[in-house]
Amino acid sequence: MELKYRALEGMHDILPEQSLLWQYVESRWREHCRRYGYGEIRTPILESAELFERSVGETSDIVSKEMYVLQRGEERYALKPEGTAPVVRAYLEHGLYSGGGVQKLYYITPFFRGERPQKGRYRQAHQFGAEIFGAASPLADAELLCMVMDFFMSLGLPADALELRLNTIGCPECRPAYREAVRNFGSENFNRLCKNCQARLERNPLRILDCKECFEITASAPPIDPYLCDDCRAHFEGLQSLLKALEVAYVRDHRLVRGLDYYTRTTFEVVASQGLGAQNALCGGGRYDGLVEDLGGPPTPALGVGIGVERTLLVLQALHAPVPTPPPLDVFVVAFGDAARPVALQIAQQLRRAALATDLDLEGRSPKAQMRLANRNGARFAVLLGEMELAQGIATVKDLHTHEQHAVSQRELSSWIKTRL
Ligand code: HAM
Repeated sequence: MELKYRALEGMHDILPEQSLLWQYVESRWREHCRRYGYGEIRTPILESAELFERSVGETSDIVSKEMYVLQRGEERYALKPEGTAPVVRAYLEHGLYSGGGVQKLYYITPFFRGERPQKGRYRQAHQFGAEIFGAASPLADAELLCMVMDFFMSLGLPADALELRLNTIGCPECRPAYREAVRNFGSENFNRLCKNCQARLERNPLRILDCKECFEITASAPPIDPYLCDDCRAHFEGLQSLLKALEVAYVRDHRLVRGLDYYTRTTFEVVASQGLGAQNALCGGGRYDGLVEDLGGPPTPALGVGIGVERTLLVLQALHAPVPTPPPLDVFVVAFGDAARPVALQIAQQLRRAALATDLDLEGRSPKAQMRLANRNGARFAVLLGEMELAQGIATVKDLHTHEQHAVSQRELSSWIKTRL
């Protein structure tokens, strides 16, 4: 058959067998967020394009090259290319700051980036996100990093397969001098930089630091440490001593500047040593203490993380971490003869309402073929309905493990089966 329509490049269907894995990691994420005091937020897929231009930044790759923008009349919308800006927009729109105190919000969202697809990099992908508003202390950074590492651990990913990389990129007060130092370094090495970095040296010099092509050259770029203001230095030192006390292993990565403009101070990523190839970042995040104010709200320190769901699943599979198998059926109802088929459906309904996973044949197959289906679906019990059973208001229940058979009244079927599961 020649297919007329296919999913778009870089976009994927998730079929039932994979959905099981998705549901598993999603439920882990939800449970994890509950333990850390987060409430769920769901934001629309479409937002005004300007929201991302103002927050992620017009010079970022995400906005300048990858964003899907739709024009409708005068309005410009974007398919969300990330989850943080919409959450900040909602935080402001609903006045979530008005009660004071700390707000913790988590989400599971698709996002869209028109990148060149490859392993672990898609045009529609999904993120587990968490954002904390109103907490300036490094305690919040440390708690977020603990939550992220614990989450990966709870999925059975061994600590030695992951590396937490940590950096600080200072604040609007101290970063300009550092940016200048990196620009000078870039100018001195201009001819060795890739074309992309040569072009962005003027507008966004820090981005040369996380360019994979220029990795060897930027190894000798100046670190930020001597440029940090006292507050940024104290924050970063505070965070590092908390991580040591909490025994969260990390490596300092001077070049981790992240590709989104809203970050201040802490930036981090977790990379996987196996399963991802070139796209090895499982998650990324950091502080964005100026963003709420930039978008028109009160000064509000904030921080968060985005975890790539597809990449998490790739690593789980590569490391053969334990994953759930499809739950078997509890019951398969087998009709002997056409008269029994409507009763079989009624009984299946009765069992399903009693929370038993139940199936039956819908194609008019022979009893033998129905029994084969029951076995193939891994059903624990077959409920057999023939003329004799219909006449007496009973069912013959066959335990497909022990092959024992019992006559059970139709009315008591669900409780009889439940006590034997
Ligand atoms: P990000 O680093 O752009 O950060 O994305 C977070 C994670 O999403 C990445 O580490 C990666 O696992 C996954 N990811 C990114 N792009 C793709 C793609 N094309 N295909 C598959 N997976 C991908 C953010 O988006 C920030 N909003 C994170 C954040 C939250 N910062 C503060 N709060």
